[in-house]
Amino acid sequence: MSERRLHHADSTAFRKAMRALSSGVAIVACGDGDRRIGCTVTSIASLSLTPPTLFICLARSSSTLASLEETGAFSVNLLAARHQALAHRFSGRGGVHGPRRFEGAEWIALATGAPVLADALAAFDCIVEEAIERHSHVIVLGAVVSLREGIDEPALAYTRGDYAAAGRAKLRQ
Ligand SMILES: Cc1cc2nc3c(=O)[nH]c(=O)nc-3n(C[C@H](O)[C@H](O)[C@H](O)COP(=O)(O)O)c2cc1C
Repeated sequence: MSERRLHHADSTAFRKAMRALSSGVAIVACGDGDRRIGCTVTSIASLSLTPPTLFICLARSSSTLASLEETGAFSVNLLAARHQALAHRFSGRGGVHGPRRFEGAEWIALATGAPVLADALAAFDCIVEEAIERHSHVIVLGAVVSLREGIDEPALAYTRGDYAAAGRAKLRQ
């Protein structure tokens, strides 16, 4: 449909209704040494299995976006419930920016050299396949070139503006 005929819903109402979505939480990271940079994201999903490809959405203003476009590689680290403080730090809400966000956790490198959280639930090492600019954000497609799986434990979730633990409690039939 052409932009001219589109009548978008109200942004504030959209934002409020989207709070009902429960999402997994991840840290996107890139660069190395003193040039490491990363941020907390919930906008991550698998795009295709063959070839293994995922996507994330980053604000145009994100310094992580600028860095991953420069280096051409990034990692996506899925967080466990016990990583809540790390998610908070990488969101910048505690006032911590740049490489200082990486302090106090163990980071390793896989194929691309992007920092990978050693004890993530799962981590994906990606090469930037394409960056698609759309509205306030950029959709980054990541070709997964390497990955690592951690132990099975409760995941960190984000819903209604708060962190929560996502277990695997069975639903009653
Ligand atoms: C739970 C949560 C989820 C977030 N998800 C995203 C996201 O998907 N994309 C994004 O651009 N920012 C997201 N943010 C905001 C970034 O983490 C935040 O703006 C960060 O400071 C950006 O850092 P940077 O400018 O160093 O890249 C999220 C924040 C929180 C608390």
